[in-house]
Amino acid sequence: ATNRTFTMIKPDAVADGNSGAIIKMIEEAGFRIVAMKKALLTQTRAGEFYAVHAERPFYADLCEYMSSGAIVPMILEKENAVADFRKLIGATDPTKADEGTIRKLFAKSMSANAIHGSDSDENAAIESSFFFAGLEQF
Ligand code: CMP
Repeated sequence: ATNRTFTMIKPDAVADGNSGAIIKMIEEAGFRIVAMKKALLTQTRAGEFYAVHAERPFYADLCEYMSSGAIVPMILEKENAVADFRKLIGATDPTKADEGTIRKLFAKSMSANAIHGSDSDENAAIESSFFFAGLEQF
């Protein structure tokens, strides 16, 4: 069925001027952009977004990194959106990402890995509402 996922282009990719190239790959892969903006997270807001990772050893670094520069959050729509988007972005660790994936092309490290993709329909809905009100979705 047609459904939605949430993504954000991370600070490294935005700062490097790769947002446009990444959005082009997303659209060419058949995703429709439902909502999009540029945003800057505080460490506190980043901590709320990544609350599920609060007990992980990398949590503090992740929150610091994700608030270090502008991000581009988006809601995307497509058939089988969550799973297909995770294929398009590739593995979290860019050294393990397949050829042709967004992370293979643009990620620098495990934390500066260019882009986020929701891991389930449920998290896609939670993450989308973290950034976008209903009236911002077209
Ligand atoms: P993302 O899928 O956006 O959400 C959780 C993030 O935590 C993940 O991308 C990585 O950027 C980061 N992450 C996951 N595992 C590690 C790790 N072992 N070390 C550092 N960062 C990590």
